[in-house]
Formats: sequence, structure tokens, C-alpha cells
Amino acid sequence: MKDKVNLSKMSYPKANNILVLSAKSWFISAVLGQFIFAYYIAAFYGGHALNTDFKAWNRALTHGFVVGEDIGNFFLILHILFAFIITVAGPLQFMSSIRGRFPSFHRINGRIYLFTTLIMGATGLYLSMSGRKLAGDPSQQLPFLLSGFLILIFGFFTLYTALKRNFKAHRRWALRLFLIVNGVWFFRIGLNLWLMLMGGPVGFDMETFQGPFLTILGYASFLGIFPLSILELYFLAQNSSKVYGKIVMASLLVLLTLATLIGIYATLFGMWLPTLSIPN
Ligand code: HEM
Repeated sequence: MKDKVNLSKMSYPKANNILVLSAKSWFISAVLGQFIFAYYIAAFYGGHALNTDFKAWNRALTHGFVVGEDIGNFFLILHILFAFIITVAGPLQFMSSIRGRFPSFHRINGRIYLFTTLIMGATGLYLSMSGRKLAGDPSQQLPFLLSGFLILIFGFFTLYTALKRNFKAHRRWALRLFLIVNGVWFFRIGLNLWLMLMGGPVGFDMETFQGPFLTILGYASFLGIFPLSILELYFLAQNSSKVYGKIVMASLLVLLTLATLIGIYATLFGMWLPTLSIPN
């Protein structure tokens, strides 16, 4: 049993390295999923926009593009365009290799990212509060709506801490912002992972798109309750003097990496590719 891992004898720096590696493995899997989401937005919405066939967007939307609703259509186009930008700019902003080697890119991209979060929060709030038809019931719409405010609040603290040159706090707020901005992405990954694991819609009705599972998933993802709790646990493990705590956290992150990869696979084949292949 020479090779058995003995936690009590594992050194503190080694446990730290394992923790950082596990966080990186989750981040890489998330970046992969984000870029696939960005590809879907560009191919579906961008593709139809280039053909000036905005009504084709309605195949994937609840309210969608309605002739005559000029303000609503304008905000929708802005929302979709900036959804693409934020899904690409976000991961680039959090890659340590880019941050270290190209600091001026990090600064410019950071400004673009913060401006984009502002647009996404504001257009999202408009789309949700202007009386358009919304998916789900009020128990699902509430966390979605609140996430618009959270995006604006977290964006403010990310900027404020950067201007104050408090970089430790800035890093923490930026990571929180990244997770809350990705609520829509977490929702899709979580939903399709659930459908795959359960073999179908358990805890909600596919036709009405309502049910307790979707309400819980809405709070967990749009309000970031699940990813933000994991992030706070990660901060605790980082600061902990206990090797054991770091290894438990690292194991959880490895499990979450696997779940994320399966969720991305399920979303790609269960949602995004089928939407892209709807015939004209
Ligand atoms: C910041 C990250 C966000 C991203 C990346 C994002 C992305 C998207 C995308 C891609 C769609 C099209 C639906 C699809 O194809 O799956 C969409 C629709 C929508 N989004 Fe967002 N969104 C974000 C934030 C928000 C927020 C915070 C709200 C509400 C406060 C919101 C409200 C809406 C609404 C209401 C629609 C449906 C519009 C309709 O049916 O006509 N979004 N969003």
C-alpha cells in the first residue's frame, strides 16, 4: 500500500497546488461550455440576423421579435448582441495566462466586460418588466428578474474595488460577477444535465415549462446560490490552514468539473444543435 495517499502527511503547498489545479479544471470545462454557447448565439441569432430574418429568432424565444414593437425589438437585438460579447469577453478576462502576459488587453477587455454587464443587466430588466410574454411562472421569473439587479450591483463593486486599487477584493467581486452573469448558462447546463440523468422531465412539465424543479434551479442558477456558495467555500479552503479542507474542496471541484462536462454535452446535443437544425 505504498502509493496510498496519506492526507496527514501531505504537505501544505502540495495541497494548495491540488486545490488550484482542481479549480482550473472546472474553469477550463466552463470556458469550453461558454464558447459553445457563444457559437450557438452567433450561429442561430447572428445567422438569421445576417439574412434579415429576425422573425426566425422566435423559434427559440418566448416573446421574441414582433413587427411594430420597435423599442422591444431594439432591446432584444441589443440583449442578444451583448450576450455574445459577454460570453466571449468573460472567459478571456479570467484566464491568468492572458492577464499575466497581456496586462493592457486585460484592462481594455475588463472595461468592455463591465460595460457589457451593464447593458445585459439593463436590457434583461427591460425585457422582463415591459409586459412581454415570459417563460415559466412567477416563482421562476422572480429569481431571473432579481439577477438583473445583482448583475448591476456586483458590476458596481467590481469597478469600485478596482478604482480603489484593492485588488484582493476586486478579484473576489470579479469572480462573483462572472458567476452571476453566467446564471443563464448555469440554468441551461443544469436543466439538460437533469434531463439526461433522470431520463426525462422530472419535477416539472415540459409543455408549460413549470414545476418545482425549475423554481429551485432558477434560484440556484440565476441568483447564483449554488455557484456563489461553491465560490465562498473555495475562498475558505484557500485561506484554510488545514490540508484536509483543501483536499475535500478539490475533490468537490473535480466532481463539479465532471458534472459540468456532462451538462455541456447534454445541452449541446439536447438544446443548441436541435435549435440550430430547425428547418427554415
Ligand atoms: C448577463 C447574462 C445574460 C446572457 C448571456 C443572456 C442571454 C440571453 C439569450 C442568448 C437569450 C435568447 C434565448 C436563447 O436562445 O436561449 C436571452 C433571452 C432573454 N433574456 Fe437574457 N441573458 C442574460 C441576462 C439576462 C437577465 C439578467 C435578464 C432579466 C433580468 C434577461 C432576460 C431575458 C429575457 C426576458 C429573454 C427572452 C426574450 C424574449 O422571449 O423575447 N437576460 N438572453
